Parts: sequence; structure tokens; C-alpha cells
Amino acid sequence: MKILFFSAQPYDKLFFNRYNDTLGFELVFQEAQLNEQTAGLVDNADAVCVFVNDQVNAEVCKQLKSKGTKVIALRCAGFNNVDLQAAKANGLKVCRVAAYSPEAVAEHALALILTLNRKTHKAYNRVREQNFSLNGLLGFNLHGKTVGVIGTGNIGKAFCRIMLGMGCKVMAFDLIANKEMEALGVEYHPLIEVLKSDVISLHCPLNNQTQHLINNETIAMMQKGVMLINTSRGALIDTKATITALKSGQIAYLGIDVYEQEEHLFFRDLSDNVIQDDEIQRLMSFSNVLITAHQAFFTDEALGQIATTTLNNVHFLLKNGNLTNQAALLV
Ligand code: NAI
Repeated sequence: MKILFFSAQPYDKLFFNRYNDTLGFELVFQEAQLNEQTAGLVDNADAVCVFVNDQVNAEVCKQLKSKGTKVIALRCAGFNNVDLQAAKANGLKVCRVAAYSPEAVAEHALALILTLNRKTHKAYNRVREQNFSLNGLLGFNLHGKTVGVIGTGNIGKAFCRIMLGMGCKVMAFDLIANKEMEALGVEYHPLIEVLKSDVISLHCPLNNQTQHLINNETIAMMQKGVMLINTSRGALIDTKATITALKSGQIAYLGIDVYEQEEHLFFRDLSDNVIQDDEIQRLMSFSNVLITAHQAFFTDEALGQIATTTLNNVHFLLKNGNLTNQAALLV
């Protein structure tokens, strides 16, 4: 049985080949992103395996069905890039890796916070230039600060635990309060209250309700000088609104691992290209903005779990047409 991978990187080949021994799939790796133009590359693949920036819309689902594909396997947790209704209408099963090392993403959010705050990236460059001055490197103690967490699922919970360990007061907003978190000391409040925190970190999924959750209006509810962290999905934030807020000082620190228009940029070496996206160029020009290119998941442990879970998902879906893990089965 054949699985065709889109948006495949060298590390995908390494990890999927490593864990394919027992299942023995034929694995074919394709660098191209899946979209309407590239769906024609699918040939006799029982399953296609896609990542965060592959575009699985209604037209792509139709083409996959016509090529005889039965399963769309997401090798990630978020699934905002797949038209689930269209997949169902075309008889395609869709699965994801519902939970893989949530600590990987939560720890990256912490890395963004500490780097922005203590400016270790600037200190590293300075010392290499034999500049031992401290001017401009002033940070603040995280201990005692209020951290607002939006979305306390797998990753949000791991992040709450870390921030409690740092001695922060943790406030959270979610559709459902989590009892385990409350027992640890996390306080659930309405969004408007959580937006008043010193540091705000986004861990909810991207959907119709959360698109541009961070916009001119919600930014105005934040305290001046807030630190905003997004390791979830780019379109949770209205980029134009954050640029305005960075210029006025309303947002004093912005750390993002995801970006609204990232599918045109991330996971590629564009160092010899002229970047046409003026918004990311403007964001990169701020000294208080730290951008990483969707690497929060990128740990050895997480890649191992993603590979084993994805291969098992495809195995059971092709064999039984179903999965026991209902969180992993989307359609
Ligand atoms: P999860 O499904 O375990 O948790 C999501 C939480 O958000 C749930 O508790 C849910 O109730 C809550 N939620 C849903 N709608 C909400 C709303 N309108 N307001 C507030 N909370 C809301 O998901 P998990 O595993 O924690 O992942 C969260 C997101 O992180 C994923 O959707 C994905 O987009 C992103 N992600 C990013 C990665 C990266 O490398 N940067 C890697 C993995 C996931």
C-alpha cells in the first residue's frame, strides 16, 4: 500500500522511513505542496499525507477521489487547511495526530518569551562582536507576572504547567474550564479579563470563531506594553492590527511561530529571493518582534510520535475503515 507525502522535508523522510519497518508501506516523498495544481501528482496512492500548509479544498478532494485515494493523513494536530465536508462527500477518511509531545510546542512558547524578554539573541551577537555593554538588554522578572492562556487543550495545559513553575499567576480562557488545571491554580476568566495579562499566549485552534481573535478591538483591551505569543495558527492574529499596535507601543513584544501568509514562505530557503510580502518584512523590521518559521513542534520526540501515529492511523483506516482514537479521526 502506498502513501504519497506532500510538502516532504528531509526530516520527514528520515523519521517516516525509520518507523515504517513493521508496517511496510511504500512511502513516496514529494516536495510540492498539495493544492489544486499539484493534486494531479497523485497516482495510485492509497493515502496522501499532508502538513500544515497543504491546501485540501473541495476541488483537491474531488481529484483525490478520482485517483482512488482513500485516506488523507495529516501529520500535524491542526486541520484548518482541510475541507472536512468535502472530504466526507467524496468518501475520504481524514485523520490527524491529535496529540504529540504537547511539551514541544509549549516549551517553544517559553523560548520565545524568554528570548524576547532577556534578549539573549541580541546578547549572543553583541558578545561575539566584543561588545560587552548591557545597555538595551534590560528585561523583567517573569516570576509574579500574570500570564493569559487562550485555549487550554493539550498544548495550553503543558504551557500552563510551565508558567506556574516559573512562579506566574496563570489566567485562562477556554470554552470549557479544565478541572485539572483549576486544581493546579489556573484561574478561568472571560476573554476580556485574560486579555489584560502581562503576557498572552495563544493555544486555541483556528476556526471561524477564532479567526482574527486578536484584532484592533481586542488589542485595545490589552494593557499597554503587553507581550503577545502565537505558536498556534497565524490567522488567529490580524497582522495589520499588530503592526499598528507595535508602532504605537501597545504591543511591546511579539513572538510568533506562525504567520497568516506563511504558506508562501515557511519551510523553504528563500535567502536568494526578493520577499514580496510587505507585512512580514515590516514585522521583521521591529527589534521587539521574534519570528520562528513554524518550528515549535520540531523536536526529536515529537517527530518520532508524529511518524508512528500517522503510519498507524493509515494502517488501521485502510484495514478497518475506522480508528479507535476518535480524536484522531476527523471524518
Ligand atoms: P487541543 O484540541 O488539545 O486544544 C485546543 C483547545 O482550544 C481546547 O481546549 C478547546 O476547547 C480550545 N478552544 C477551542 N475554541 C476556542 C475558542 N474560541 N476560544 C478559546 N479556546 C478555544 O489542541 P492542541 O493540541 O493543544 O493544539 C492547539 C493548536 O496548536 C492546534 O490547533 C494547532 O493549530 C497548534 N499547533 C501548532 C504547532 C506548531 O508547531 N506551531 C504544533 C501543534 C499544534
